[in-house]
Amino acid sequence: VGHIDDVQELRKAKPATVPERFIRDMADRPKVVPNLSSSLDIPIIDLSKLMKTDKDEVMQLKTASEEWGFFQVLNHGIDLNVVEDIENVAKDFFMLPLQEKQKYPMAPGTVQGYGQAFVFSENQKLDWCNMFALGVEPPCIRNPKLWPSKPVNFRETLEIYSREVRKLCKTLLKYIAVSLGLKGDVFEEMFGVAVQAVRMNYYPPCSRPDLVLGLSPHSDGSALTVLQQGKDSSVGLQILKGKTWVPVQPIPNALVINIGDTLEVLTNGKYKSVEHRAVTHKERDRLSIVTFYAPSYDIELGPMAELVDEKNPCRYRRYNHGEYSKHYVTNKLQGKRTLDFAK
Ligand code: SIN
Ligand code: FE2
Repeated sequence: VGHIDDVQELRKAKPATVPERFIRDMADRPKVVPNLSSSLDIPIIDLSKLMKTDKDEVMQLKTASEEWGFFQVLNHGIDLNVVEDIENVAKDFFMLPLQEKQKYPMAPGTVQGYGQAFVFSENQKLDWCNMFALGVEPPCIRNPKLWPSKPVNFRETLEIYSREVRKLCKTLLKYIAVSLGLKGDVFEEMFGVAVQAVRMNYYPPCSRPDLVLGLSPHSDGSALTVLQQGKDSSVGLQILKGKTWVPVQPIPNALVINIGDTLEVLTNGKYKSVEHRAVTHKERDRLSIVTFYAPSYDIELGPMAELVDEKNPCRYRRYNHGEYSKHYVTNKLQGKRTLDFAK
């Protein structure tokens, strides 16, 4: 079994055609427009300016969160060695023999380990991607059996990287609060001990990038997501802006940040959790390292009172964040449908 669904193994076997289970329905297939640089680009935020509470930068953050739900952050403060190290251990992990990676299998219906998450039925299309996902913080969500012993420096590198990304998330949430006219520590106080998970995605080249998707369209369930793209990776992430899929052009040493469903709900829809997907490339592979940052599972959340008034009536109900998370991971990725839970 496993073999057939493992995209790296499939690629090695070089089948004459892409297996049926990866071939998307006509309407879902990506348009492949090589080398056409889009005039649309997601906004860029300079964190060093934000940290001086530079008014223009706070305004940019507000516009980015309202109109795009995505931005790239420069001068994010994470040591470039830390960024490089996580990329290297992720790549080394994916390059291990299948047998070694399968020591850390993603059990059906769970989202930790090596495999394909969000697959629940035989007739569901598969993504052209191998995934390795781990819960990181708080320690009680870790499954130590899934933390790999190879490459040898994997665990330590992930610890260091996660600590840095956690700091970045806290800083970003502070300025997101400021950009909403709220006290800087509202989210920190509300979230309790925040949940943090990482997912590494490896997209091998695909002979028919016009027929498959690297990752199905979805919005994230997190409050914030931090995405690092491999240095030599092809362009692959696309976000839905109106009716257009806009490619995210990688910028060296920048991190891509997006607003997740949880912040959309908390801000009563003012800040948007935007649908995105990944496409593949004929010759090039792609690696992404994604950190999800979310409130503690036990908190109750809903639109913040400060953001609800006659002009902005309450758009979402209150719910338990743990229940929302459970709903998210037990449903297939399908655009923004997971947010229906909050309606
Ligand atoms: C994701 O949405 O989880 C990752 C998309 C990407 O690989 O860029
Ligand atoms: Fe995502």
